Amino acid sequence: MSKKRVLVVGGTGYLGQHLLQGFSDINGSPYDVAFTHHSFPPPHSLLHAFPSSLAFPLDLKTGHGFDGISRRFGQPHVVVNCAALSVPRACEADPGAAMSINVPSSLIGWLSSFNEKTTLLIHLSTDQVYQGVKSFYKEEDETIPVNVYGKSKVAAEQFIYEKWPNFAILRSSIIFGPQTISPVPKSLPIQWIDGVLSKGDRVEFFYDEYRCPIYVKDVVAIILALARIWLSGGKDMQLLLNVGGPDRVSRVQMAEAVAKIRGYNTSLIKPVSASSVNRGVISPSDISMDITKLVQTLDITPTPFVDGVKLTLEIETW
Ligand SMILES: NC(=O)c1ccc[n+]([C@@H]2O[C@H](COP(=O)([O-])OP(=O)(O)OC[C@H]3O[C@@H](n4cnc5c(N)ncnc54)[C@H](OP(=O)(O)O)[C@@H]3O)[C@@H](O)[C@H]2O)c1
Repeated sequence: MSKKRVLVVGGTGYLGQHLLQGFSDINGSPYDVAFTHHSFPPPHSLLHAFPSSLAFPLDLKTGHGFDGISRRFGQPHVVVNCAALSVPRACEADPGAAMSINVPSSLIGWLSSFNEKTTLLIHLSTDQVYQGVKSFYKEEDETIPVNVYGKSKVAAEQFIYEKWPNFAILRSSIIFGPQTISPVPKSLPIQWIDGVLSKGDRVEFFYDEYRCPIYVKDVVAIILALARIWLSGGKDMQLLLNVGGPDRVSRVQMAEAVAKIRGYNTSLIKPVSASSVNRGVISPSDISMDITKLVQTLDITPTPFVDGVKLTLEIETW
């Protein structure tokens, strides 16, 4: 029997690379995995790490590249869409690009071109769909995004609801963890905090901006579980999940966790209000999330924040 096909759209990004690693670590290689890249040809280190995965160029803005995937890989059983303009400031600067990349219209147009509308689409959304004026948002709370990034993600969710019958939308909080096989250009949150505190300078952190950061390997485990459920005979799903860690932490608390683990003086952390700094984009204050539905649906308990930071920094020092 031929293997089930999994396509990771945005396989060169932070989550995409960790996901390729997650699929390749499964015993017995039960899936054929392919991935897409956009700005540059896939790095050699990535091709070398996953020699059995096909790599395809793809532009989600135009849909260029899907034909090649149809010809050489065929209709995937599962698509994980990790591609996005994922930096809020970049979305604010170019709302047109944010909408055309983050709303998966070309992807769903391509999936709709196959006779059977059976592919499971696992789509990455964000906690920034919430307004940020209370703690522990639930999935059924109203979405009121305060910036272009959040608006593009809400539009993406609505588009998927209307156009594709089999999906899981994951509203992820900040994803943290070790660097990828081929290092990504954007700065990673824990590594950035570690870098600035290690210099011994006093640095400002927000005491009034709250998130539920999630360890990257937990996000990978969630996606693998969803793929497994579907591929082992599950029914079509229309699933919306908050994907966060178990701890609601401020930026100050994130920095304190790094400082304690590394042995830095916590007086280097200067608590300031987020309202005192202009970041060129509005950032919601408290978008902490209730993850009860995630835990109950998939029986997965995400890693406590401090443990995830320890794992991240242990790996970084090797
Ligand atoms: N990382 C987080 O903390 C976080 C938190 C919440 C939600 N999310 C969401 O989770 C998903 C994955 O995030 P990430 O951090 O892995 O993102 P990332 O590192 O920025 O990766 C984005 C990916 O999208 C691809 N891409 C960009 N423009 C494209 C286009 N026009 N056509 C096709 N592909 C394109 C990039 O390819 P190239 O690199 O080859 O250009 C890259 O593979 C995103 O949807 C993001 O919004 C992330």
